[in-house]
Amino acid sequence: MTAPTTVHVPFVDLQPMNSAVKEQVLVRIAKMIDDGDFTNGQAVAEFERHFAEYSGRRHCVGVSSGLDALRLSLLAGGLTASAGVIVPASTFAATVEAVLQAGGTPVIVDVSDDDYNIDTGLSELAAGAASFIMPVHLYGQMAHMRELSRIAKAHDLQIIEDACQAHGARRDGLRSGSVGLAAAFSFYPSKNLGAMGDAGAIVSENDELVAKARAIRAHGEVRKYHHEYSGYTARLDTIQAIVLLEKLPLLAEWNRQRQAAAHFYTQALSGLDGLQLPRQPDGSDPVWHLFVVRSPHPEQLAAFLRDRGIQTGRHYPEPVHLSPAFRSLGYASGDFPVAEALAREGLSLPLFPGITEPQLDKVCEAVHEYFRGT
Ligand SMILES: Cc1ncc(COP(=O)(O)O)c(C=O)c1O
Repeated sequence: MTAPTTVHVPFVDLQPMNSAVKEQVLVRIAKMIDDGDFTNGQAVAEFERHFAEYSGRRHCVGVSSGLDALRLSLLAGGLTASAGVIVPASTFAATVEAVLQAGGTPVIVDVSDDDYNIDTGLSELAAGAASFIMPVHLYGQMAHMRELSRIAKAHDLQIIEDACQAHGARRDGLRSGSVGLAAAFSFYPSKNLGAMGDAGAIVSENDELVAKARAIRAHGEVRKYHHEYSGYTARLDTIQAIVLLEKLPLLAEWNRQRQAAAHFYTQALSGLDGLQLPRQPDGSDPVWHLFVVRSPHPEQLAAFLRDRGIQTGRHYPEPVHLSPAFRSLGYASGDFPVAEALAREGLSLPLFPGITEPQLDKVCEAVHEYFRGT
């Protein structure tokens, strides 16, 4: 048996971010316990106001996860039974789950090699088979929303943005979450804005959608014991709203630190034969939820780094169209070559606010050493 390796560079370390708000969070939770303000508490309304403003939207509806935010956006946005929803092949499973759970039909299209986001040309080709499109701002980089907006308008598609990985990202003068009929955010603990448990939010300008989403998140009630819709228990917890309220003012600085780390990697790792750095189209200002490089043998590179105390991640080794969960959709290997290549070759390097220069140096030195030896 080999001795366990000491981890010098974790893939992600949430401790510095959580410590930064711990004291204030504990004070507010103590008050919440005294007040008995457990569901739809005052902190929920306060967070909704602040996050709407942050997103450049009039409304925010706090919900219990990113998946709920996506699913409720579709349900409240008027998705009809079996209607097509265009989604990218490179995403987290929740994008497809949301469509299925809302009663829609996922219409999967490949991603573009330019930004790993939904391919706009293929989206236009698929538009006839759909009434919604759900672009995902993957790894913290916005999809090409100007072009997708044009396509949506031309083909009468509603856009729901999956902004779960892209709090604060910008592209071509647009902010993530500010474009579609609605946008969904996740506050899973490791997201750019993370709760201390599960949480999510919908942002939108649309009064009708917002009123319906507010009802559906709490059993479809529009007033006490009057159920207009069949809904869910999908409220944002008051405790999580407290955490998010305390963290939101720090998000810009945390995103800046992520950008600095990404810049460090880009400088130090460019030009290595066999390593492809993340793509960043002109006009795109990503928030680097993940820093995904590509190499022909990512598992081998991951093992090499692991032996040197560096953790990495794979996002995602299985494109959604090849997941057993979605087999019934009838897609096959070879259908989406760009997404499949990304799944085969992608490796996420450590990146989080508070990552130190010695840690970044260590990763870069090890990556250089690996490619020197291959
Ligand atoms: C792209 C994307 N969509 C949806 C989700 C679902 O969010 P949650 O885990 O909060 O349900 C996530 C995150 O996990 C995600 O990365």
